[in-house]
Amino acid sequence: MAPVPSCPAEAMSPHAPSAAPSVDLAEAEDFVRLHHGEHPELGPVEHRLAEVHAEVAATGTYRHTADELVFGARVAWRNSARCIGRLYWRSLRVRDLRDLRDPKEVADECVEHLKLAGNGGKVRPVISVFAPDEPGRPGPRIRNEQLIRYAGYLGSDGGVLGDRRNLGLTEEALELGWRPPARRGPFDVLPLVVAREGADPCLVELPGEAVLEVPIEHPELPWLARLGLRWHAVPVISDMRLRIGGVDYPAAPFNGWYMGTEIGARNLADADRYDLLPYLGRRMGLDTSSVRTLWKDRVLVELNRAVLHSFARAGVTITDHHTESDRFLAHLEKEEAAGRSCPADWTWIVPPMSSGITGVFHRYYDRRELVPNFFPGDTRGVCPVIH
Ligand code: ARG
Repeated sequence: MAPVPSCPAEAMSPHAPSAAPSVDLAEAEDFVRLHHGEHPELGPVEHRLAEVHAEVAATGTYRHTADELVFGARVAWRNSARCIGRLYWRSLRVRDLRDLRDPKEVADECVEHLKLAGNGGKVRPVISVFAPDEPGRPGPRIRNEQLIRYAGYLGSDGGVLGDRRNLGLTEEALELGWRPPARRGPFDVLPLVVAREGADPCLVELPGEAVLEVPIEHPELPWLARLGLRWHAVPVISDMRLRIGGVDYPAAPFNGWYMGTEIGARNLADADRYDLLPYLGRRMGLDTSSVRTLWKDRVLVELNRAVLHSFARAGVTITDHHTESDRFLAHLEKEEAAGRSCPADWTWIVPPMSSGITGVFHRYYDRRELVPNFFPGDTRGVCPVIH
């Protein structure tokens, strides 16, 4: 892979704008009470509340205990209304990296995250929590939406080679000095771009051993393997802000494992992604003259069979939408039995294919937004120096 510019570990600018106001005490209190409420072995909450009050009064923020961080991150997953895979929220591994804010160090730990989570194919849910935003001192930001993203290159004819979704990130990486492979392809892994106020954004190439990928083949259509389709094994969301008890962690990449439809019915199929249905339909010899022949639906099923088949063959964890629908309904029941409501967003929970034959389709959900949670990231307070 091409070399990338080094990453100056500059000091914070003394004129940095305040990145975060003082922590919201009510939210901090609610969180500490929730933690103690769900963990009676911690004893009475008053002592911890007094500590948090004093620390916020003195510094504008407070530092979570190691236990609070683990609990907060797991509950943020439990409260993620868009996620169908929450049955295993208690199993989340939490990496406490709150002392890291230097972009190069953050990027290096992201590489470790990928190895730990990929685990040779037996994918483990992991979150790595880097330095929080503090008054006058913003934490680091990962600019990649996920740790692994495929480049998208815009051709002069308006066509795109690769993943159209990542045109912007590809552009940014190129401007920062990223050198794509001499022969550009549809699945070129982009470098990590990590930013911190007062320092140049840092580019780090992901080493091959951190990027587990699965070549896509079909159980009965041998020609499909020859198309060279592939997808990465671990989806690590890296541009969302983790908020626990009023404290924002802007860099807290987290992952579960894939559900097949995310790849087969969205990433490879959406018209604004890899848009493979028309090509595959012709290759399958289907009558594509009218949508009423349901040729798209037939291709979609075969593409999704190929994804599940390929991951299984490669020994990489993946789940299907029927199993995950049943698990989610089991999770809802468990949460209700524990006296909790489980917020869920129907439009995200219901799978993008065969919706009516999954159980999650046939009901309504609680739409409340609870904290801790993950929120859309922002670049508040961060002014990356882009040359
Ligand atoms: N849908 C996203 C993708 O296809 C990943 C979102 C998170 N998915 C997950 N299974 N944890 O890359």
